[in-house]
Amino acid sequence: MSGRIDDLLSRMTWDEKLGQLQIVFRPNPDDAVALVRRGVGSTFWPPSAAATNTLQRVAVEETRLGIPLLVGLDVIHGQRTIAPIPLAQAAAFDPELVRSLAYLAATEARSGGVTWTFSPMADVSRDPRWGRVSEGFGEDPLLTSLLVTAMVQGYQGDDLSAPDAIAATAKHFVGYGAGEGGRDYNGADLSERALRTVHLPPFEAAVRAGAASVMAAFTSVSGIPMHAHRRLLTDVLKREWGFDGVVVGDAEGVANLVPHGVAEDVPDAVRQSFAAGLDVEMGGAPLALTADDLAPGRLDPARIDDAVRRVLRMKEALGLFENPYVDPTAEITAPDADSRALVRAAAARGSVLLHNDGILPLGEPRRLLLTGPYATSTDHLGAWVQFFGAHAGSVADELRARRPELDTVVEEGVDFLSGDDAGIAAAVEAARGAEVAVVLAGEPSALSGEAASRSDLRLPGRQEDLIRAVAATGTPTVVLLVTGRPLVVTDWIDEVAATVVVWHGGTEAPAAVVDLLLGVAEPAGRLPMSFPRSVGQVPIHYAHENTGRPAATGGTLTAHHHDVGLHGPGNVQDKYTSKYLDLPLGPRFSFGHGSGYARFTHAEPRVSASVFPADGPGDETVLTVTVAVTNTSDRRGDEVVQVFARDVVASTTQPVRRLVGFARKTVDAGDTATVTIPVRREALALWSDGWTVEPGAFELHVGSTLETTRMVTVVAE
Ligand code: NOJ
Repeated sequence: MSGRIDDLLSRMTWDEKLGQLQIVFRPNPDDAVALVRRGVGSTFWPPSAAATNTLQRVAVEETRLGIPLLVGLDVIHGQRTIAPIPLAQAAAFDPELVRSLAYLAATEARSGGVTWTFSPMADVSRDPRWGRVSEGFGEDPLLTSLLVTAMVQGYQGDDLSAPDAIAATAKHFVGYGAGEGGRDYNGADLSERALRTVHLPPFEAAVRAGAASVMAAFTSVSGIPMHAHRRLLTDVLKREWGFDGVVVGDAEGVANLVPHGVAEDVPDAVRQSFAAGLDVEMGGAPLALTADDLAPGRLDPARIDDAVRRVLRMKEALGLFENPYVDPTAEITAPDADSRALVRAAAARGSVLLHNDGILPLGEPRRLLLTGPYATSTDHLGAWVQFFGAHAGSVADELRARRPELDTVVEEGVDFLSGDDAGIAAAVEAARGAEVAVVLAGEPSALSGEAASRSDLRLPGRQEDLIRAVAATGTPTVVLLVTGRPLVVTDWIDEVAATVVVWHGGTEAPAAVVDLLLGVAEPAGRLPMSFPRSVGQVPIHYAHENTGRPAATGGTLTAHHHDVGLHGPGNVQDKYTSKYLDLPLGPRFSFGHGSGYARFTHAEPRVSASVFPADGPGDETVLTVTVAVTNTSDRRGDEVVQVFARDVVASTTQPVRRLVGFARKTVDAGDTATVTIPVRREALALWSDGWTVEPGAFELHVGSTLETTRMVTVVAE
């Protein structure tokens, strides 16, 4: 324990301690100075290096103990140079990419005085109605855990006091991604098993990676709002996992305990939260209270001391006692060539080719139609509310600038949201005269992120009508989906020649989109979240459990086929299996789906050991899976190899498939590469009052996507 922290604690008054336990949510500049003078220990970023120094000077020179401030900001996918949204980063299946993007963000943010980001989002979500899926890494706990780890490492590096490091926050602890009905802020009823196997692992990974803080979720878990959830905040996070960092509340999350209906009033809410394990309130609720409300008799002094220690430790680790100020002349305020190149490559790397009849890459078309609202829109940055001057261009401008010799016609056809279809006729006319039509369709950024749940996952407005009308001309049609969430594409996708999901790609999205169209870059990502056939299937995810009645085929009840079941195709038994009568089985595109422009074949997978010990450390690699992949095409390209496991017989029902490892590899045309993927014991474990690998057989399914795997069996003994 640091002598400085003990010394400070011994000298702090009760009010000074409470001041350290608050961050005021986006105060205006005058308020911020007054609050810091009053002893508030953390603030949102002011927003410049100079303004940060001004506030810091008030803290250091005008408060009795001169304790420096933490300066927080939601740096979610970049600060000045905006990277693709986290869901797009996840699609790259490349932890190193995520680490380097987080490092870039940290470098920019810290140069301006930010020391604490509220990222990464570690919420696993299987519900694309929830707008915040754009901020996370998708539906899979292992992929999310590995990318959360990479992001924490990218932000924090080895030394938080370095000029290119910021403190990370794993959020939103926990269950925020499971809100009933995909409605933001809604409660979740989660079993211990669901928590342990799906929702908690990415947070535990963040803690193992040394994340400096964890944010409590707005949501309630099985009836207890997370800001008051002592068992999860204290017993699991702090005691069981040994987390010694800061638990910060979400904005007004403490005061929200009143409308949640578990606190009588704000003083009660504040007391419950700190007692449950919260260390820093975000919003300002305690500031509104009287000294009596927060008297030592009403808040446990030992708990408060513990919270203060955590905050001071974070300040110390960031080197703020030695170096509270930043050099305003070194502040990075705009992207540079290197940062642009990185996010451009990232935007392409996370793009997912859903299908392609061979039309992509485009080659050398002379007459091209760009249509859809994203042809000219510059709304590529993706969900987050504050971007401090960042902006992107449009695909139309980018293509015309780079390929002026092409005859590029631009007809938006429709806008994002309205019912106005008057422009479709002009787009159709232009499509008739083009060799290729490219529809840039999608969701504007405002439809994803916080407070942006949707009940309908089809393209909004009249965009689907535009796609169908353009495709009906017979001109080969390519759709690029600019989106922050999985969409329902069922009603049009079979009518077009190729579809690429490019997500909200950030500052350099238009350049990346043109790179993909022209084949300068490969869209070899994989879906981190399934694309449902219909919103009625949601929540849907690949790692569902088997039922006692697994279906072999999907339902056949369609508008053209009414006599399903007893008289329909299949047999009588098929009726009584787990499916929807009116949908084929499974999502339209599963987790892990995608391919690049290059073509690959896989040899039979081999394992380093077909028998491994069931007992032993969770993080021990128990076997490796090796597969030779051959690029059979005439272009260099990337292949992703995924390894899924199935515990054949277990004491509880298990997922039909579960990702246990993956690797992405670049292979030259005609070359063969050997890909080796380690599998850890914990990836094969199940939760039953603790993690355990049950002896018996595991199927390992190895392949480019879930649909193309080959199986090898291993045994735990
Ligand atoms: C609310 C969001 O839920 C959270 O993710 C964010 O960090 C805070 N607001 C602060 O802006």
